[in-house]
Formats: sequence, C-alpha cells, structure tokens
Amino acid sequence: MDFKENLKKYQDIVNKNLEKHLRNKECLEGVLNESMEYSLMAGGKRLRPILVISTYEIFKQDIEKCMPYSVAIEMVHNFSLIHDDLPGIDNDDFRHGKLTNHKRFNEATAILAGDGLLNNAYIVISNDLKQSQKEELERKIKVFNEFSLAVDRMIAGEYVDTEYEGKEITKEDLEYIHKNKTGALLKLCVRMGAILAEASDEDLEKLTSYAEKIGLAFQIKDDILSEEGDEKVLGKPVGNDKAMEKCTYVSKYGLEESKEILEKITKEAIEELKSYGDKAEFLKELALYIKNRNK
Ligand code: IPE
Ligand code: IPE
Ligand code: MG
Ligand code: MG
Repeated sequence: MDFKENLKKYQDIVNKNLEKHLRNKECLEGVLNESMEYSLMAGGKRLRPILVISTYEIFKQDIEKCMPYSVAIEMVHNFSLIHDDLPGIDNDDFRHGKLTNHKRFNEATAILAGDGLLNNAYIVISNDLKQSQKEELERKIKVFNEFSLAVDRMIAGEYVDTEYEGKEITKEDLEYIHKNKTGALLKLCVRMGAILAEASDEDLEKLTSYAEKIGLAFQIKDDILSEEGDEKVLGKPVGNDKAMEKCTYVSKYGLEESKEILEKITKEAIEELKSYGDKAEFLKELALYIKNRNK
C-alpha cells in the first residue's frame, strides 16, 4: 500500500470511530449537537488520531485499544478550531471549504459546540478508564494526565498568539506560541500511542523528539500556506495571518528562510526514526507529508 492509500485507510478508521460518538438531534439541544457534528465531520485530515494509531502500531497491532484516545484528541482539535475561528480570536469565515461554525450557526452555538466537544473528549476517556482492567489503569491515568496538560498548553498558546497580534515578537516567543498552540497536541498524540503500546523510556524519548519536530514543522507549514496556499485547496482563507498582523514564521523569517527551517526540522524528525526501520515508514512519510502538503 502506498502512503496515500494508507492515509485514506487510517482516515476511514478514524471517521468510523468518530461516527459512533455523534449525538442525538431530536432533542431540545438538537441544533447544538448538529453544530458539533458539523465541525467534527467537516473533512479534517485526521492527522492527530492517525499519529496516535500509527505510533501505537510500531509496537502493537490491536489498535482498538488506542481508539478512545484517538477519538478524544480529534474532538479537542475540532473544539480548538471552532474557537480559533470565532470573531474574538481569528475571525475567519471559512474552514474545510465550508462556513465556519459561528457563520453556519451563530456565535453562542459555536462557543457551546466547542465546549461540548472539549467535554465530550473527557467523557470518552473517562468511559474508557471506567471499563479498563486494573493493570492497565496506571498507564492510562498517565495518558489522561498528559492529555489534560497538553490541552492546557494549546489554550495557553492560543492566548499568547492573540496577545501578540500587531506586535514585534522575539524568535523565542514565536517558537513558544507554535510549540504550545499546535505542537503540544501533536506531541501528545505520539506520546499517547507510545505509552499505550508500552514503549520503553528510550523509545518514548526518541518518538517525543520526532513529535516535537513535526509539531513545529506543522505550524511553520501552516504559516507558509496562509501566505501562499491555494484557498480552494486549503478550504480556509489565505492572507488572513497578514491581515490580522499575526506573528508567524513568515512574518519573522520571511518565506524562503521559513521553508529552509521547515526542510531542516523535517530531516531531523526523520533522523529520530532511524532505529525503527520499516516499522516507522509511515511516520517518516507523514513527516514528509506535513512538509509538502497543500492543505
Ligand atoms: C489546523 O490543523 C490548525 C492548526 C493547528 C494549524 P489541521 O490542518 O490539522 O486541521 P484539519 O486537518 O483541518 O483538521
Ligand atoms: C490554530 O492556529 C491553532 C489552534 C487552533 C490550536 P492557526 O490559527 O494558525 O490555524 P488556522 O490557520 O486557523 O487553521
Ligand atoms: Mg489562530
Ligand atoms: Mg486560525
């Protein structure tokens, strides 16, 4: 199977599992549930759950064990996107080639849909904890703790990102924003996959380093796409970072140097996978995909 087919296979698995958690629309809060579904099923790439699963697969095959955590992280990710697009944050009208949640519904609904997805993620994890065997609990509680701390970092990063609009930023603070608003969840995904699969401390360290690098690479590429992407392919606005005077790698380093940094850290990320050979082929391809993607 080539990379594209593999990616599609994983996306299908994730989508099927997310569908199991869609909520009833025949109740008083039916429209709220509809708006959560609208964003969750809008056509995201599912990179975060795919990172959990494909890291888990380096060590073990029974991927249903990591499914609750894969579903939960995609819920949190979509919460972050709904709130990121709100008028008080990035004020964007389009995502995934569709109206953003607050444009399709309204602001109150979008705020609550985000809250709902965030809390649903915790429901999914706590249900899994409740059903787990005693001997799995220690590991899963570690994962749960890391999950909540990573969400905290994402929120912090989003805050600093908005605070810096229109201001001068140091390279250190820019890296801080990117590592938190985007890197934290991506790093979490790889760590969850590894911890759930009972990877050794040494493996966890190597994979964490890989994850930190693709996490930063992912946001640098996002910055580049906001500058020179194709809006039709991207499904979200191009030029919005500039219009909002966001501090990005492109605003700080320029396009060419941003691309060089992206190239360099992608190479470094792949280096971290050397010892796994074919077992990490997909993760290697994923790092290249993050660098080369056009959406
Ligand atoms: C977009 O993430 C938000 C960032 C963290 C840059 P994705 O590109 O992974 O979002 P999807 O694929 O639309 O879900
Ligand atoms: C999004 O960052 C990060 C989170 C949603 C946590 P951006 O604001 O740069 O991402 P896009 O371009 O809107 O997807
Ligand atoms: Mg933003
Ligand atoms: Mg945004």
